[in-house]
Amino acid sequence: MTDKLFIFDTTLRDGEQVPGCQLNTVEKIQVARALEALGVDVIEAGFPVSSPGDFNSVIEISKAVTWPSICALTRAVEKDIDVAAEALKYAKRKRIHTGIGTSEYHIKYKFNSTREEIIERAVAAVKYAKKYVEDVEFYAEDAGRTENEYLAQVVEAVIKAGATVVNIPDTTGYCLPSEFGSKIKYLFDHVDGIHNAVISTHCHNDLGMATANTMAGVLNGARQVEVTLNGIGERAGNTSLEEIVMILKSHKEIGIDTNINTRKIYPSSRMVSGLMNMPIQPNKAIVGRNAFAHSSGIHQDGVLKNVQTYEIINPQDVGIDDNSIILTARSGHAALKHRLSALGVELSEEKLDKVYEDFLKLADRKKEIHDDDILVLAGADRSLNHRVKIDYLQVTSGIGVRSVASLGLDVSGEKFSAAAEGNGPVDAAISALKKIISRQMTLKEFTIQAISKGSDDVGKVHMQVEYKGNYYYGFGANTDIIAASVEAYIDCINKFKIEN
Ligand code: KIV
Ligand code: ZN
Repeated sequence: MTDKLFIFDTTLRDGEQVPGCQLNTVEKIQVARALEALGVDVIEAGFPVSSPGDFNSVIEISKAVTWPSICALTRAVEKDIDVAAEALKYAKRKRIHTGIGTSEYHIKYKFNSTREEIIERAVAAVKYAKKYVEDVEFYAEDAGRTENEYLAQVVEAVIKAGATVVNIPDTTGYCLPSEFGSKIKYLFDHVDGIHNAVISTHCHNDLGMATANTMAGVLNGARQVEVTLNGIGERAGNTSLEEIVMILKSHKEIGIDTNINTRKIYPSSRMVSGLMNMPIQPNKAIVGRNAFAHSSGIHQDGVLKNVQTYEIINPQDVGIDDNSIILTARSGHAALKHRLSALGVELSEEKLDKVYEDFLKLADRKKEIHDDDILVLAGADRSLNHRVKIDYLQVTSGIGVRSVASLGLDVSGEKFSAAAEGNGPVDAAISALKKIISRQMTLKEFTIQAISKGSDDVGKVHMQVEYKGNYYYGFGANTDIIAASVEAYIDCINKFKIEN
């Protein structure tokens, strides 16, 4: 008999907390629908009290999704729980996720409290949430560094108060797999009534052990895992959904299964990466560009003789389309549509026409168009509604000459132009930009990355700009890296909170 493991996806809450990866409500709905199609059991849709945007997203996701439970995060605070319950009003299945820190660090320094008082607050929060919904999950924040005996008292108390799920987060990603596994076992051995709730893991990846710790939790009785697509999340991220699901699929002897339709993993992963402008490291397990690419002669030879010599997962099982057509300047509209759809991007005919036009221009400059290229193209029309847009850019640079740029901008329909010199072409272009947009803004971070390979490649630029004490992240992509840099800077400017 196989046991069922519940997949609790927090891409839209913990994952979305990554600076620069914020999604708007429409994009969140797109991800939530993809998560539903993927087969997740629970979607953590946001932290409603934290902002009107989060509140609204939980409402809209609740309306858009049918099967998964929609979960809203709260602190152990009545106001948070009231707001979460209100945000969940349209959800067909709803869960409130409330909790409080239980480690000595949290009790002493965050709350200036005592162990007894923390248990009282935990119990009160669960009972209060139960007034609104039947399904209440409790999290013991920093459980990874909470002494086991005390943690068991907390877990027992919240289950008695009515918690249906108890989450044991390794908030700081500190635990060793053996330690985390023993913690879960300790709870099963010492908590009265533990079988009245599902025990959940929520492991962070600060020491690269999130997946190992989550598996240790599962092997010791946890039956819900909290995960994100591509492992995105604060700092080093959360446990990757795709890794846990494929470990269980590959190791049938464990006898635990999930509802996930694994063939939808790759398109969903690409969709999240594209919408969040968050590149996937090429060697990322399961979904990285190189995860199934055999380049050494010995491996290629083995794989050609029998694929199982070096491949433990069939790429098609995770939705990687082996027969993917390589797109070139001769590829038609239908081929582009097919490829975008395989990557989880569905566009209206009008948008597709625009992307196809850009695709042909890019294909003229590059021999082969890769998945990442077309994802960038499909996202490129996000700038259509921007206040500030580039009209033209011309740069002269070289060795032994000072760089000069002249730039034309369209600011809410009005045309401006400026020219400037600089210490290199990017500096010249940004100086020209600053002559037009004369605000006190400072470039804090600037990275350029090639999407695939070749001197004709598209360059992606990520920038962080400080303006009035706030940090804004911007993104640009172009075969001309100077243009990509200016696009990224303008992307930041378009996100500024401006009073007038
Ligand atoms: O990492 C953590 O402890 C969390 C909780 C809020 C569940 O994200
Ligand atoms: Zn977390």
